[in-house]
Amino acid sequence: MISEWVLYIVFFLLAAVFTAFLGYCLYIHHLHQKYDHIPGPPRDSFLLGHSSSLTKAVYSDNNLIHDLFLHWAEKYGPVYRINTLHYVTIMVYCPEATKTIMMSPKYIKDPFVYKQLFNLFGKRFLGNGLITAVDHDMWYRQRRIMDPAFSSTYLRSLISTFDEMSERLMDKLEEMANNKTPAVMHDLVNCVTLDVICKVAFGVDLNLLNQKDSPFQNAVELCLKGMILDVRDPFFRLFPKNWKLIQQVREATELLRKTGEKWIQNRKTAVKNGEDVPKDILTQILKSAEEENVNNTQDLEQMLDNFVTFFIAGQETTANQLSFAIMALGRNPEIYKRAKAEVDEVLGTKREISNEDLGKLTYLSQVLKETLRLYPTAPGTNRWLHEDIVINGIKVPRGCSVMFSSYVSQRLEKFFKDPLKFDPERFDVNAPKPYYCYYPFSLGPRTCLGQVFAQMEAKLVLAKLLQRFEFSLVPGQSFDIKDNGTLRPKSGVICNIKQCS
Ligand code: HEM
Repeated sequence: MISEWVLYIVFFLLAAVFTAFLGYCLYIHHLHQKYDHIPGPPRDSFLLGHSSSLTKAVYSDNNLIHDLFLHWAEKYGPVYRINTLHYVTIMVYCPEATKTIMMSPKYIKDPFVYKQLFNLFGKRFLGNGLITAVDHDMWYRQRRIMDPAFSSTYLRSLISTFDEMSERLMDKLEEMANNKTPAVMHDLVNCVTLDVICKVAFGVDLNLLNQKDSPFQNAVELCLKGMILDVRDPFFRLFPKNWKLIQQVREATELLRKTGEKWIQNRKTAVKNGEDVPKDILTQILKSAEEENVNNTQDLEQMLDNFVTFFIAGQETTANQLSFAIMALGRNPEIYKRAKAEVDEVLGTKREISNEDLGKLTYLSQVLKETLRLYPTAPGTNRWLHEDIVINGIKVPRGCSVMFSSYVSQRLEKFFKDPLKFDPERFDVNAPKPYYCYYPFSLGPRTCLGQVFAQMEAKLVLAKLLQRFEFSLVPGQSFDIKDNGTLRPKSGVICNIKQCS
């Protein structure tokens, strides 16, 4: 009697699973019918769509996933479709559609992508911070409060801090030049940008250039690595061989948030004691939590979301841009010579660089812009399509994600002639302005808040480097790009350096 009941239950359970699976397959079939008029590569399988090709690209040592997107854009045109299970992404490289969607606040960030960054392998990570807040009102309240810490007047007042941090790098390079030690430029500029963000944003001096293996620096790197694995490979956490790395990423996330907690507490105490505190990013973070007027625990979590956000958004991106710029200059002696000549003319032997000096370094700005064209260190963004739209004559029904890859757009021949050539002339004042096909800092309301901050910092470091040292790339190293959440040079950019006479 009992075994008969067990049999019935098992039968009904199996029937329920089968019906659910059938329903899911029918739903996927419906999505295929809805979007298959949009061109795209053939699916690897009915159920998983293009997942297999995408996963292969994520784990490939030689190719970037963005190169696969570029190859597909060249083959299938400026609007194409990618399927992963029941999730449809439309890749778009039409300037008009880029303008319509990115410039409008009505197209919110894709919740499916950005909510995944709320936690990292189960630990709260970017939460509802500025990058990941999807709800427009919640995002806008934070952005409005944060803006003063990025106003040009405030940023101009930071020049001496940027200068002081860059001088530490110059001291380190001088030491290495004297010892004839090759410099791994990526590691060095990484320390500088981390020192800058800690000092400028949070009033803390870590002095990483003079420390070895800082746990804090490793934590930022681990979080970035974990971020792409968690977002791009939904099956990563299922394999026991990955559990050790997952645990390390979880600990790294915790370290960042614990550090944030400590620094926030210190600042609160300073304010309470009536100390004079800077109007920096940390002050604005405290203010934003106050205005949200939520209870204490939520309050702290919200502040920590933005604390982590500024590390993730503001540090590696700038360090990677600097190392790509050094790599590009090392590979293009004529451009190097011209940039150095400009620096020598504007700065001479001057040690302390002013805002006016930076303004005069126009060719160096072009070099930095061209660096981000060929090597956009944060290479894309997604929006959610909540209403039907026609792109390039193709109807795109609502209910899917739209992805904009600056890496692809900025390497398409139709927008940038001879796209693999590093050519700062593309950004000469008299050259035609790129029309919604160049967006290394994203576009529209969700554009990068730290763009001016980052370019000030990058220009100052690069100017000092060109003024004081001659550098050449150590032969035999790779010029490939590594995808670690942000794009960075695989080799680390190893240089022989010599002090300028
Ligand atoms: C070369 C350096 C940088 C590049 C290439 C870059 C690029 C970007 C991109 C593409 C986005 C949009 C991300 C998305 O839509 O998912 C973004 C957003 C953001 N970035 Fe940057 N970034 C850089 C440096 C910085 C710095 C130095 C800071 C802060 C100190 C910063 C703070 C932010 C913030 C807060 C956002 C979110 C803005 C919002 O949604 O309101 N970034 N950045």
